[in-house]
Amino acid sequence: MSQYAKTPGANVADVICDLRSDTVTRPDAAMRAAMAAAEVGDDVYGEDPTLRRLEQSLAERAGKDAGLFLPSGTQSNFVGMLAHCGRGEEVITGREYHVYKYEAGGASALGGIVMDPLAVAADGGLSAEDVTAAIKDDDSHHPVSRLLSLENTHNGKPVSLARLEACTAAARSAGLSTHLDGARVFNAVAALGCDLAEVAGCFDTVSICLSKGLGAPVGSVLVGPDDLIARARRWRKMVGGGMRQAGVLAAAGLYALDHNVGRLSEDHRRAEALAEGLRDLGAGAVEQNTNMVFFTPEGRENAALGQALAQEGVVISAGGSGAIRFVLHKDVTEEGLSATLAGIAKHYASV
Ligand SMILES: Cc1ncc(COP(=O)(O)O)c(C=O)c1O
Repeated sequence: MSQYAKTPGANVADVICDLRSDTVTRPDAAMRAAMAAAEVGDDVYGEDPTLRRLEQSLAERAGKDAGLFLPSGTQSNFVGMLAHCGRGEEVITGREYHVYKYEAGGASALGGIVMDPLAVAADGGLSAEDVTAAIKDDDSHHPVSRLLSLENTHNGKPVSLARLEACTAAARSAGLSTHLDGARVFNAVAALGCDLAEVAGCFDTVSICLSKGLGAPVGSVLVGPDDLIARARRWRKMVGGGMRQAGVLAAAGLYALDHNVGRLSEDHRRAEALAEGLRDLGAGAVEQNTNMVFFTPEGRENAALGQALAQEGVVISAGGSGAIRFVLHKDVTEEGLSATLAGIAKHYASV
């Protein structure tokens, strides 16, 4: 099932709780005030001071030379992969990872990059042995293995530093470079109790999203060494991602870094509470990782549950079969969580 499956019949105007993703957060008044007050310039000329500040501050936090602001996580991963790989070169990644499964095949379709997707282990990481086995010999029959691309968190799972180090060491020892899709890397950092620089230190480049749990409306920053970021900047221009007075967006990102990183563990705690509530209902299997809860309803269709919750003002992604993903974020209220649990209980009691 796609985690992006739509809930049929959800009436957006009446929503009191939206658990589809942490991408649904809206900028609050203080973030909007920071955006309105942002000093701006033309970033394609390198003249936007707010955007520069955002790129530099995330690069410093990650222990990297430089940063590059991009409109989305997808574009950040895409230009990141293009900066590492030429046509016919290969990215080794996970079969369930976003770069392979949910970015419309852009790296291959537009970038001429070959993807070798490996099985993802139960902890969300790859096996270092699988990585080593996937790296191709220098043989004209094969694509040139160039990049290992990992993801953290994956489906909310914070992948341990030990696992990241083992896989990236395997890649590096064969001359590959390394990239992290860190769309939710701050959730991983909060759960692992480490610094961003420790996770980022395993990789050459890291893509960090501001518009997931951090609550900014737009934007990702790709961080890495000067030479790769300079190449990524050229690719960003080529794919139309060079923006002008983007400081208004960067101001939201800076606000998010100052105010919304520290509160991510609150989302994790509330995800735990939701998981506990679901377990108490005894209505199906429940798994919780950082800000995500996966619920497999027992004896009920996902779509019917989605429709029943929509009647109560709760929106979930329940279009397919298998586990339904609930994602906690800063715009989920206690009232919303209570309505979710009450709505599920009511649905189970009704048939
Ligand atoms: C793990 C992961 N990587 C990358 C992305 C892409 O981000 P965007 O939607 O900003 O393109 C997402 C989006 O949800 C994601 O979950």
